[in-house]
Amino acid sequence: MKQKKLWGGRFSTSTNDLMETYSASIGFDWRLYKYDIAGSIAHARMLCSQKILSDDEFRDIEQGLIDIQEDIEQGRFEWNESYEDIHMNIEANLTQRIGDAGKKLHTGRSRNDQIATDMRLYLREEIDSLLILITNVQQELVKLAAQEADTIMPGYTHMQSAQPVTFGHHLLAWNEMVDRDYSRISECRKRVNSSPLGSAALAGTSYDIDRQMTADELGFTEVAKNSLDAVSDRDFILEFNAHASLLMIHLSRMSEELVLWTSDGFNFVDLGDGFCTGSSIMPQKKNPDVAELTRGKCGRVTGNLMSLLMLMKGQPLAYNRDNQEDKEPLFDTVDTLSICLQVFEAMVPGIKANRKKMREAANKGYSTATDLADYLVRKSVPFRDAHEVVGKVVGYAVEQEMQLENIALGKLRDFSTDIEQDVYEVLTLEGSVNARDHFGGTAPKQVVWAASQAAKILAARFVKAS
Ligand code: ARG
Repeated sequence: MKQKKLWGGRFSTSTNDLMETYSASIGFDWRLYKYDIAGSIAHARMLCSQKILSDDEFRDIEQGLIDIQEDIEQGRFEWNESYEDIHMNIEANLTQRIGDAGKKLHTGRSRNDQIATDMRLYLREEIDSLLILITNVQQELVKLAAQEADTIMPGYTHMQSAQPVTFGHHLLAWNEMVDRDYSRISECRKRVNSSPLGSAALAGTSYDIDRQMTADELGFTEVAKNSLDAVSDRDFILEFNAHASLLMIHLSRMSEELVLWTSDGFNFVDLGDGFCTGSSIMPQKKNPDVAELTRGKCGRVTGNLMSLLMLMKGQPLAYNRDNQEDKEPLFDTVDTLSICLQVFEAMVPGIKANRKKMREAANKGYSTATDLADYLVRKSVPFRDAHEVVGKVVGYAVEQEMQLENIALGKLRDFSTDIEQDVYEVLTLEGSVNARDHFGGTAPKQVVWAASQAAKILAARFVKAS
């Protein structure tokens, strides 16, 4: 039913029906109810402590808002599009419940500082959940890395076999990518956690308010310093979505590798049946849909970032209605990130390495050629000359269709008389990975150590927070 607008005093005719639908945000911003109510209670308590509201008025407002929250959570609350948004749906309902005191709630505030407050409270809580989900994914990656510390696979550059690496090392590389996402998002939380409340419409308010009190009650660590900036700033949303995009890009890159590795050409890993689908026509198929969907969902999150960037471009100070358009992209980004992280957490432990295939592939690509060059360097051959010699050895091996380690010593010595019997120790895959035994290197020993360090850091994260 069409309702009289709470802001309708100076209007003589009612809103155009199309305009009503066009401008309403209640269809999506209802999700902010919890934060809107928390913000309103904090604001009302402050007005009471400043003697702007009486004790009785505050008590009625607080109880009314608690009851509204209960009704919303029980699915009993009636949303009304003609009240436009979450703020006015709640305020109108409050006034119906408690009478005139409800009309006093909006004293000294505006929907402009209210929505900025709601969005910050919402995002702060979502960031806290996402940080836990990111950590869970990291924990699974690190666990699997420890298990696969000495599994040898080809490492690639340009998608050409380059040098052997351990699968555990590769998984720890994934962990590093996600670890940076964790720190970026935690860092951004600090800037989310600032209170715009009290900025009112744009200029502040003529009432004697206490902004520190509302900020403290809502757990904000800072009071926004400029009212014009506070009602118009959406940097925190853009910044978060930029970090979210990067995280999705990382998940997408991992997904791409999983898609490759599960393909016939590679056959490096098997993903559990629970995370693949079959084909309705080809009975043999087991498709890595989770990975593909994640790769695809990266598009919507980065698309949301573009929407948000363009939303802010060209907006003059202070609040403009454009800002209502920040919600759907942000909600979608948060929801997408959350489901992708949950799915990854569940899928990673089921990644089963096909060690035989990985090893065969590592053997095929002359991936120990660099080791042969390094060997010659240790025998005092300058690196450039060693590189040249090994290039010739590889050319010979390609011609003969054989592995480096299967070339007889006599033949190898045709290329360089510095080559001796001990060369075979470096031509093996184990010799190659074990030799890279330094901080950040691929040697199994390093991977075991790095995985245990990472596990300790991850385990300490939320112990510290609580
Ligand atoms: N629904 C609006 C938004 O999301 C709330 C603030 C509206 N303020 C206004 N002056 N119309 O931004």
